[in-house]
Amino acid sequence: MPPIVNRYTRLTGIEHPIVQEGLGPFRTPKLAAAVSEAGGLGTVSMPGMPEDIALGARTFREHIEECASLTDRVFAVNIPVGVDSNGDVLPFTDIYIRTALEARAADPALERQLRVLTTSAGFPGDYIQLIKDAGMVHQHKVGATRQAVKAAEAGVDVVIAAGFEMGGHAPSKAVHTFVLVPSVTEAVDVPVLLTGGARDARGLAAALALGAEGVAMGTRFITSTANSDWHPAYIQALLDAREGDDVAFDGVYGPCRGLRNAASQRLADAAGRHDEAVVDPVELTRWKIESMQRAQTEGDTENSLVMTGQVASAITDLVDVAEFVPRMADEAAGILRSLAARLPSGVGAP
Ligand SMILES: Cc1cc2nc3c(=O)[nH]c(=O)nc-3n(C[C@H](O)[C@H](O)[C@H](O)COP(=O)(O)O)c2cc1C
Repeated sequence: MPPIVNRYTRLTGIEHPIVQEGLGPFRTPKLAAAVSEAGGLGTVSMPGMPEDIALGARTFREHIEECASLTDRVFAVNIPVGVDSNGDVLPFTDIYIRTALEARAADPALERQLRVLTTSAGFPGDYIQLIKDAGMVHQHKVGATRQAVKAAEAGVDVVIAAGFEMGGHAPSKAVHTFVLVPSVTEAVDVPVLLTGGARDARGLAAALALGAEGVAMGTRFITSTANSDWHPAYIQALLDAREGDDVAFDGVYGPCRGLRNAASQRLADAAGRHDEAVVDPVELTRWKIESMQRAQTEGDTENSLVMTGQVASAITDLVDVAEFVPRMADEAAGILRSLAARLPSGVGAP
């Protein structure tokens, strides 16, 4: 019997309520398969927004199929909902969601494995019904209680409450994990995952105490031996980061957390100039995405944008995912048991 069993593990069919969440626009099929093999839920990330979006869709499908070839277990995909200035959903979101659904429809084994679709950034609207009709579990990541209520009322199965210390695109309201998660768990009835700042069993135990049913991590899984698809210099930069080395810069969908370096400074300088003739917004967005990908593929961690959570400041070692995931669940259960055992007997008993 796994040490922690709850609505989330039963809904998704995983052993431990520990998720490697989306790490786009990067390659994560090997990492996702390793996390799922270890009893958690691995996530295949969106591969970016190339000008040739059909090429992006082919890459995404290859990543999904690669992950399925490396594990028999359940895994997820993450697709951010991009919206333009009129509020219309961007083509990449639509194409990637349909790509995931088509990959499942074409292969019964993959249909069983690719059970979870996570959306983030904008509101998933009509896609909620589409994902439900496909028989998938739909998780949506939010950065505010109001967004959590809206998503749950619209039929999302799981809410991921994302605190501002998280790596990558962070909530525009800048509410931190410790404030946001209990507000969200109080406000919705569906299972909630904590994301932003978790790195070990203590984070999982705390998430459960705050009313969540699991944790979704990014930075802790980037710094793992299973992440062989990423340039070693990127991973080393996260291991070397100390408190104060991260910053929220202006990303693609809003604020985005990464390392403070020459590239993040370049964005800060650009934000100070409001003359669109000087800084073309479309060019700037393309530069941001390409810069993020350059950091991950070429390891240029000074002149490229290096996304990471604040928790990198507390991470100094690489973990072996196969050993780490079950140990994290065991230790979290142990923490909760030992805290309960320290209470005076009889106090609070029904
Ligand atoms: C390099 C990087 C890329 C990310 N890309 C995405 C993404 O494509 N979609 C998404 O929903 N979240 C993305 N995130 C956020 C993570 O899924 C996760 O919520 C976050 O890392 C949690 O915070 P932590 O880093 O403190 O664990 C990214 C985070 C990082 C560090």
